[in-house]
Amino acid sequence: MSNMIDELKSLSKEAVELLKSAKIKDTVLDIKNKYLGRKGKIASLTKKLGTLSHEEKRKAGEAINSAKELVDSAVRELLHSFSKSEKAEQLAGETLDVTLPGRLTPLGGLHPVTQVTQEVEDFFLKVGFEVAEGPEVELDHYNFESLNIPKDHPARDMQDTFYVGEGTDVLLRTHTSPVQIRVMEGRKPPLRVIAPGAVYRRDSDITHTPMFHEIEGFMVDDSVSFGELKGILTAFLHHIFGEKKSIRFRPSFFPFTEPSAEVDIECVICSGSGCRVCKSTGWLEILGCGMIHPEVFRSVGYDSENLSGFAFGLGIERIAMLKYGIDDLRIFFENDVRFLNQLR
Ligand code: DAH
Repeated sequence: MSNMIDELKSLSKEAVELLKSAKIKDTVLDIKNKYLGRKGKIASLTKKLGTLSHEEKRKAGEAINSAKELVDSAVRELLHSFSKSEKAEQLAGETLDVTLPGRLTPLGGLHPVTQVTQEVEDFFLKVGFEVAEGPEVELDHYNFESLNIPKDHPARDMQDTFYVGEGTDVLLRTHTSPVQIRVMEGRKPPLRVIAPGAVYRRDSDITHTPMFHEIEGFMVDDSVSFGELKGILTAFLHHIFGEKKSIRFRPSFFPFTEPSAEVDIECVICSGSGCRVCKSTGWLEILGCGMIHPEVFRSVGYDSENLSGFAFGLGIERIAMLKYGIDDLRIFFENDVRFLNQLR
């Protein structure tokens, strides 16, 4: 009997010692189970109670209870302190620094094509032009016929397009020049208009995409001269590319202008000394222009004897490529924010 009491004392001491070295909750629970569980070391002693006298049973019972109580209170104390430190750790991890700056919602930006369009518009609005728009799904009549490009004209080969329906005269416009016709048809000179917008061609490589953007511009009055055309376009190109750039006008051909010219700017890469981009010429072709052809005036019912005008057309992506030094046109339409973010 006294053996049993001694055994209980040493068991509870042993358990309390073990508990002292426990670092985590699971170890504490394991120890608790080992000593206090139904099959634990202390409980197994209870089985021996049956062999004892009534008085001994009472004493042994008391000893068992106090041993259990001792271990149990040590367990409870430990679990309590673990959960306190767990809580403290959790709170420390969740501290909110109210002085940190807030998270910004990322803002979008204007696409480089839109930016260049606005820059071109800004210039022409300042010199008295207005902005007009026309349909992207256009009639053959406006896109070709009235611009002096009849059905069998070779100029059509360079502007093959997408037709809307087989054998119809409805197509996706290949340039913004038809807006000239639409504006002139409905109004009387004097006119100073620019017309930006998307155009379409059956073309696709690193400098051509099936859809791109152009700005058409034209001016009609009773005595518009080639000198005015030169003056305005020179001022415009200096505005976009800087005053120092040289500009030249080169004779060319367009069915809707006579005389026609192409305008070149000193190469933006090599400044005229010759490189791969300008094919060693030192010049980059930037736009087409000319004096509006009498046939075009005739097609809108204008009196070509008493009126004159100039027109020009430029590719917006081409301007953006030269301005920002971009060598692949397709990148404008991939919508990769790593590219777009650089030009915001
Ligand atoms: N429409 C021409 C094109 O897309 C560009 C152009 C050239 C427009 C000369 C004009 C012009 O008004 O005079 O290729």
